[in-house]
Amino acid sequence: MNAFKHFLAGASVLALATSVNATDLEVTHWWTSGGEAAAVAELAKAFDATGNKWIDGAIAGSGGTARPIMISRITGGDPMAATQFNHGRQAEELAEAGLLRDLTAVAEKEGWKDIVRPASLLDSCTIDGKIYCAPVNIHSWQWLWLSNAAFKAAGVDVPANWDEFVAAAPALEKAGIIPLAVGGQPWQSAGAFDVLMVAIAGKDTYYKVFQDKDTDIAAGPEIAAVFKAADDARRMSKGTNVQDWNQATNLVITGKAGGQIMGDWAQGEFALAGQTAGTDYTCLPGLGVNEVISTGGDAFYFPVLDDAEKSAAQDVLASTLLAPATQVAFNLKKGSLPVRGDVDLSAANDCMKKGLDILAKGNVILGTDQMLSADSQKQKEDLFSEFFADPSMTPEDAQKRFANIIASAD
Ligand code: GAL
Repeated sequence: MNAFKHFLAGASVLALATSVNATDLEVTHWWTSGGEAAAVAELAKAFDATGNKWIDGAIAGSGGTARPIMISRITGGDPMAATQFNHGRQAEELAEAGLLRDLTAVAEKEGWKDIVRPASLLDSCTIDGKIYCAPVNIHSWQWLWLSNAAFKAAGVDVPANWDEFVAAAPALEKAGIIPLAVGGQPWQSAGAFDVLMVAIAGKDTYYKVFQDKDTDIAAGPEIAAVFKAADDARRMSKGTNVQDWNQATNLVITGKAGGQIMGDWAQGEFALAGQTAGTDYTCLPGLGVNEVISTGGDAFYFPVLDDAEKSAAQDVLASTLLAPATQVAFNLKKGSLPVRGDVDLSAANDCMKKGLDILAKGNVILGTDQMLSADSQKQKEDLFSEFFADPSMTPEDAQKRFANIIASAD
């Protein structure tokens, strides 16, 4: 073949490659902390490597701020190409309204049913037998993060469980250290309450309340003990005075607070601050009481677009998110666990290893987003936001309101 024909062949391949793959997809999410941004950059890099382009649509603030924006864009006819929601029921009305892509064909081609574990992650994406999301990680709320330096400054040992942590609070306060950092956004105090329920009342009671919506249990003595612990938590969190979760995490990183009950996305912040698990900070899964992993975390959903090229690129993105290399690169930065068990996580730190061990033992519980509707979650968040902000609200008053929320929860 002469030189000119070689040139034509090369040019046509290049043209084909750029024309077939050069698709921009706008992706929305609420990952704007340092650790989160580092992690989402790994997803963007993986998608860009397919020849397409990740157009980042980060929305500042918490999920509670971002989700209404995402939902109104999708229902308002100005959809993005992909968006984050949590595992669970946050997008179920959008799927039922036919506004989200059915990914079943991609899932079947890629074998997601055999790959994704635990199966509850894909179950949370499935409505009437169709799969509407690509799960990307497992984030467990069930952690207490402790600053080793803070306990050293207070002259007490790093606690091994919740009771030892509460007992150490006076020494921390005496040293001018906030015992428990709780940010002001409502989802943080509500999430902490859910974690205390698993630790104090146990996972069976947790399921009776949030899955079975058992109002007798919600109003009963087991949950009264959880509200006592929540009362301890709000007392220990006085003086936190920050809104965002990562600002509260930063109080622990800098030793200004002794600990924080927070999902393991906090690990991204410790990593970015150059802190080492076990050396600089200690992680207590299940608050050192009931070692469990809850399957919170994130999945991407794909609005229906009237654009064949973008729809094809959406399938490429869905597939890329679950690819082994993407799962490792993203989850190591995000502090979460991968949704697939066939990847090499030798780079995992001590805390992530603890999480993987618990996951391997099957000590896994559903996250509350997977059991309660978004509306019921919002009512719970409003209650705990008030409970933590208003010391005049007694644990008994709060429990009465909580039982009413569970009575009408769906
Ligand atoms: C959660 C989400 C995590 C994390 C956190 C704080 O809902 O699953 O990925 O980033 O919000 O923004």
